[in-house]
Amino acid sequence: MQSSPIPPADTASASTSPTPAASGLNVESDVNLKPYNSFGLPAVARRLVRLRSEADARRVVDHPELGRAPKFVLGGGSNLVLTRDVEPVVLKVEIPGLRVLEERADCWILEAGAGVVWHELVAWSLAQGVPGLENLALIPGTVGAAPVQNIGAYGLELKDRFDSLDAIDFTTGRRVTLDATACRFGYRDSVFKQSGFGGLAGKGVITAVRLRCPKPWQPQLGYLDLQRKMAETGLTAPDARQVFDWVCEIRRAKLPDPARIGNAGSFFKNPVVSAEQCRDIIARDPHIVHYPMPDGSFKLAAGWLIDACGWKGKSVGDAAVYDKQALVLVNRGAARGAEVVTLARAIQESVYGRFGIRLEPEPVVV
Ligand code: EPU
Repeated sequence: MQSSPIPPADTASASTSPTPAASGLNVESDVNLKPYNSFGLPAVARRLVRLRSEADARRVVDHPELGRAPKFVLGGGSNLVLTRDVEPVVLKVEIPGLRVLEERADCWILEAGAGVVWHELVAWSLAQGVPGLENLALIPGTVGAAPVQNIGAYGLELKDRFDSLDAIDFTTGRRVTLDATACRFGYRDSVFKQSGFGGLAGKGVITAVRLRCPKPWQPQLGYLDLQRKMAETGLTAPDARQVFDWVCEIRRAKLPDPARIGNAGSFFKNPVVSAEQCRDIIARDPHIVHYPMPDGSFKLAAGWLIDACGWKGKSVGDAAVYDKQALVLVNRGAARGAEVVTLARAIQESVYGRFGIRLEPEPVVV
């Protein structure tokens, strides 16, 4: 369980090597980050180090200068809005590795390096005959970034399949292994986004993630779009591959492909309100899309709120509201981070003005 696809670090050479070259690290200067963020926003990293193993992460910490420097961890850059050049040292996580770590009577445990593309892990797991991740198909980004915002889609969140992860602590250079409780998962939230008491934001870099896929497999088909697919096809007992195909179809129909149109997925979180607030809002607008939560609160569809305020297709410069899903902001070509932020603020103000709800951005704004 504690093992990693990455061999143990050779820390001795790192701690005695004063220069980046001697430490085995290649520090690149003035790197264009446009290809490394899914929004395609222009920005430059003053210094960038590619982490290809856990040992590389330890080498950074042990390095006499990089060890002390402020750091910025970059995964797939799919949840990021860059508004300026990045002064902290960018650690670009490119750690590979995919394996079925263990097969137990009640589950499979999979392990993936943090630099693996999330969707590749999902596709690979199905090819190994391990179902359970199919609802999370096509989510952009890397495995290492998945726990940070507890990615989720179509009725499933990462936390529902999470076993544990390894990270390198920026202070000690040691590996720490965290279970789900330690990760404090919430809706698009985790301890890695929290900087308050006990929060781990900016404290380390995730190097490997282990997932638990339960046996027997049970499909998660509660989400309305999946119910529609079942009704359309007449397939009431789909296998995991079928669910994977449906999720890919649904996403492709609704969400822009970042390879063609820059975006960072949902730009705002769906707001959660009390039953009383929800009643109040329904009284103002009976059509509002809302979902009851297990704790008695209600989740509102932010996309619907934005759409109702007439934002679909509107733009600031080259930053625009996607015309098929108002929750997604897109780059029409040459958008700058500042334009994305201006557009996002205008949307927040307009939704607040009409519904009294403050939308919270999902991506990290730098
Ligand atoms: N809606 C509108 N107009 C719009 C967009 C949405 O009326 O322009 C309505 C839809 O008709 C639907 C409701 O809002 O009734 C919800 O829309 P959708 O099913 O597209 O899901 P979402 O709530 O907008 C969330 C996640 C997505 C995830 C989908 C599917 C968040 C912030 N977003 O979107 O996650 O793929 O559900 O589970 O929770 C992401 O986080 O980047 C992301 C794409």
